[in-house]
Amino acid sequence: MRTDSRIYVAGHRGLAGSAIVRRLRDGGYGNLLLRTHAELDLTDQGAVRAFFAAERPEYVFLAAAKVGGILANSTRPADFIYHNLMIQTNVIDAAHRCGVKRLLFLGSSCIYPKLAPQPIREECLLSGPLEPTNEAYAVAKIAGVKMCAAYCRQHGVEFASVMPTNLYGPGDNYDPETSHVLPALIRKIHDAKVRGQDEVFVWGSGLPRREFLYSDDMADACVFVVSKLPWSLGGEVFNVGTGEDLTILDLARLIARVVGFEGRLAFDISKPDGTPRKLLDVSRLRAAGWRARTPLEHGVRASYAAFLEIDGAHPPATHSSKEKRYALDHS
Ligand SMILES: NC(=O)c1ccc[n+]([C@@H]2O[C@H](COP(=O)([O-])OP(=O)(O)OC[C@H]3O[C@@H](n4cnc5c(N)ncnc54)[C@H](OP(=O)(O)O)[C@@H]3O)[C@@H](O)[C@H]2O)c1
Repeated sequence: MRTDSRIYVAGHRGLAGSAIVRRLRDGGYGNLLLRTHAELDLTDQGAVRAFFAAERPEYVFLAAAKVGGILANSTRPADFIYHNLMIQTNVIDAAHRCGVKRLLFLGSSCIYPKLAPQPIREECLLSGPLEPTNEAYAVAKIAGVKMCAAYCRQHGVEFASVMPTNLYGPGDNYDPETSHVLPALIRKIHDAKVRGQDEVFVWGSGLPRREFLYSDDMADACVFVVSKLPWSLGGEVFNVGTGEDLTILDLARLIARVVGFEGRLAFDISKPDGTPRKLLDVSRLRAAGWRARTPLEHGVRASYAAFLEIDGAHPPATHSSKEKRYALDHS
C-alpha cells in the first residue's frame, strides 16, 4: 500500500472505522475515500457499484456494519441479518468487479461458537452452535468471512478478514440501550458520580472474564494486515486482541478509579452473565509480528477524556424502575 493509494474506509465515522482513518492519516496515507451513510447507503447495490466504478479504490477497509449490544441484537434480529448481509455483499462484490487490490473485512469475536475452547483460535469458526442472542448478526458476519474466502478461491483476489475482540475507544456508543459493556460501565459510573449516588448496580455477577482492545490498536492491526502481510494469505482470518482478559468486576473497579467514583459497586445477579470467559488466541498475528500496545487503564483514561469532551451530549441516563436488583458484594 503506497501513501498515495486510493483507500476506501467504509464506516469511517464508526468506532472502528474512525480509528482506521486516524491510523491511516498518521501513517501518511492521504488519498482516503470516505462517504457517510447519508452520502452512500451501502445496502443499495446500484449506488455501491456506481461509487466503486467512479472512484476505483485500490484498497478497502470494510468497517461499516449494523452493530448493537445484546438488547438490540436479541430484539431486532431481522434488522441485523438484513443490513449486514446487504452491506458486505454489495461492497465485497463491487470491490472484486473493480479490481480492488486488497480488501479487509471486519468480523467480530462474537461470531465464534458460544462454547468455543478458550482462548479461541481462528479454526473454531463454524465448529459449534452460536450464542442465540446475536445469532442473526453472527450468521451475517460469518457469511462475510466466507464470501471473502470464496472470492479468493474462485477469483484469486486478496480479500481477508479480521476478528477483533470487544473494542472501546474515542467516539464509542454510550447509549444505555445499545452500548457494549465497557462504554456502558463508563456511562453508568459517570452518571452515578454526577448524581452523587453512593452505589452503582452492574449487570450480572461481575465474574465473567472478557478481553478489551483499544480501537487504535485494532486499527493498527488492520493496517498491518493489509500493508505488511504476504497475501498468499487471501481468505485468511486473523484474530485481533490483547491476549489478556479480566473480570467484569475488575473492569468496573478500574473504570470507577478512572472516573473518580468512590461509591460501592453492587452486582445485579438477576441479569444474565453470558459465557464465563471470552478470550481470543492471538498467536497467529503475534507470530506475524503484531501485538497490541495500549494498556487497558491508559485506553480507558483516553476514552473517558473523549467522553467528557462531548459531555453535553451525555446527560445522565434514567434507569428503569423495574430493574430487579440483588446485590452481590465483592468487597
Ligand atoms: N465495537 C466493537 O466492540 C467491535 C468488536 C469487534 C468487531 N467490530 C466490528 O467492527 C465493525 C464496525 O463496528 P463499530 O463498532 O465501529 O460500529 P459503529 O460504531 O456502529 O459504526 C458502524 C459504521 O457503519 C456505518 N453504516 C451502518 N450502516 C450503513 C449503511 N447501510 N451504509 C453506510 N454506512 C453504514 C455507520 O454509519 P451511521 O452511524 O451513519 O449509520 C457507522 O459509521 C463491525 O463489522 C463490527 O462487527 C466491532
